[in-house]
Amino acid sequence: MDPQKILILDFGGQYNQLIARRVRECSVYCEVKPYDMSIEAIRSFDPIGIIFTGGPNSVYAPGSPQLDPEIFALGLPILGICYGCQLISHSLGGKVTAAQEDSAREYGRTETFFDTSCRLFKGLPEESVTWMSHGDYMARVPEGFALVARSANCPTVGICDENRRFYGVQFHPEVNHTRFGREMLRNFLYEICGAKGGWTMADYKNAAVRAVREKVGDGKVLLALSGGVDSSVAAALLAEAVGSQLTCVFVDHGLMRKDEGDEVEQAFSRWSINFVRVNAGERFLEKLAGVTEPEHKRKIIGQEFIRVFEEEAKKLGAVDYLAQGTIYPDVIESGKGDAAVIKSHHNVGGLPDYVDFKEIIEPLRMLFKDEVRQLGRELGLPEYLVMRQPFPGPGLGIRVIGEVTKEKLDILREADFIFRDEVASAGLTEGMSQYFAALTNMRSVGVMGDGRTYDYAIALRSVTTSDFMTADWTRIPYELLDKISSRIVNQVRGVNRVLYDITSKPPATVEFE
Ligand code: XMP
Repeated sequence: MDPQKILILDFGGQYNQLIARRVRECSVYCEVKPYDMSIEAIRSFDPIGIIFTGGPNSVYAPGSPQLDPEIFALGLPILGICYGCQLISHSLGGKVTAAQEDSAREYGRTETFFDTSCRLFKGLPEESVTWMSHGDYMARVPEGFALVARSANCPTVGICDENRRFYGVQFHPEVNHTRFGREMLRNFLYEICGAKGGWTMADYKNAAVRAVREKVGDGKVLLALSGGVDSSVAAALLAEAVGSQLTCVFVDHGLMRKDEGDEVEQAFSRWSINFVRVNAGERFLEKLAGVTEPEHKRKIIGQEFIRVFEEEAKKLGAVDYLAQGTIYPDVIESGKGDAAVIKSHHNVGGLPDYVDFKEIIEPLRMLFKDEVRQLGRELGLPEYLVMRQPFPGPGLGIRVIGEVTKEKLDILREADFIFRDEVASAGLTEGMSQYFAALTNMRSVGVMGDGRTYDYAIALRSVTTSDFMTADWTRIPYELLDKISSRIVNQVRGVNRVLYDITSKPPATVEFE
């Protein structure tokens, strides 16, 4: 049975993904679609309610995104947020204008007053803080609408027509700064749209497994497994759905962390799929010999990955489906909710050109990252795989600065393992978004016992970030750094110095190369 669905029509606002996340957090399934989705497509999507997002335009500006007025005749509840609210007003005969200097232009935290007899605000205080971001103002609201929220500057912050179940707010209920925003969305879903809730990842798993079975039939599926969270969860889902019809090609480029290749292989031993592990470490090292320029190294690793995968795929012959671990943010960010996006990620980008297949399947393309992790757990993948921190496709190849050799990789793997192990024992992983060791290409003089050493310096890096676009270095306690440093120099041969990287991004990046 299909879950109840909310349709979110995207008018280009910056918080659109957040609206989708909030709805799903209320245990109701939703999808974000382009605002110009046809009425016919909306009918066949069969939502229980529609949300119009915010957007950067003015509804009265020529060429601004508009709606097919028929949408208001579908009999479905509608919630308009910011631009979406103005659009309801504009489309149904109200008047929206640019706010003048001293009137209703509002940005940021705003004290707001609510009429709590409106179902959208049911059970909430009559006064609280909302987050506004609008330069336009509803000078006149359409017939049939009541004013249900206001601020000191603006009498038309919230509007509703309870009979037709149309609601609009000028503020953003989806952001944390709106004190009772989640409750308002919950009211829209449960009080107004009649959602029953109960959408969980366990349901999603069962539905997705059934859908994959239906689609694939007795066809053959091929997946390039990188060992990362997304491709691992996609593989587990396909394994559960079509078992032996699935072939996973796991290219171990020899640039993985300690024991990582074995852990990935082990995690998939519970399914009877065709698991091909290609130990291509030596081959990658040969290609990387003598190469020191970072971009050149990245290109070689990316190209070689594709080449190895292509060779394995050729051995298998034609397949029906090529599977990819594309996730929802990649799809939404493309700006075209319906278009397939093939990740430009170095180790899957370009694969379709090389492999003979009929169609791509992307079983995770409707899930956010935390939902992907939850699905992985439902499928029985171990916690260490599901919670794995981001790891770059080129692996340790870009954490060994300069030329990559087996000796350097072995040193780095040990040092990196000690770092992660000590952090885990200290129970400090919270707040450390990504942490790892890198092998600097620098050797320096030290003294051990009575002798002189001339060994490598290991750099430790830990960053705290929410999006990896910018990052701060993590303030790791000195005691922990001390423990890690002594263990590394004592246990890893070839290292006599440990450095801690205290640069943020920008100006540095997270990775060293
Ligand atoms: P930078 O070094 O650009 O890293 O600040 C930001 C985040 O991206 C990861 N990263 C990669 N991930 N393929 C990936 O899948 C890559 O080639 C790649 N390079 C960097 C990095 O680990 C960090 O999380």
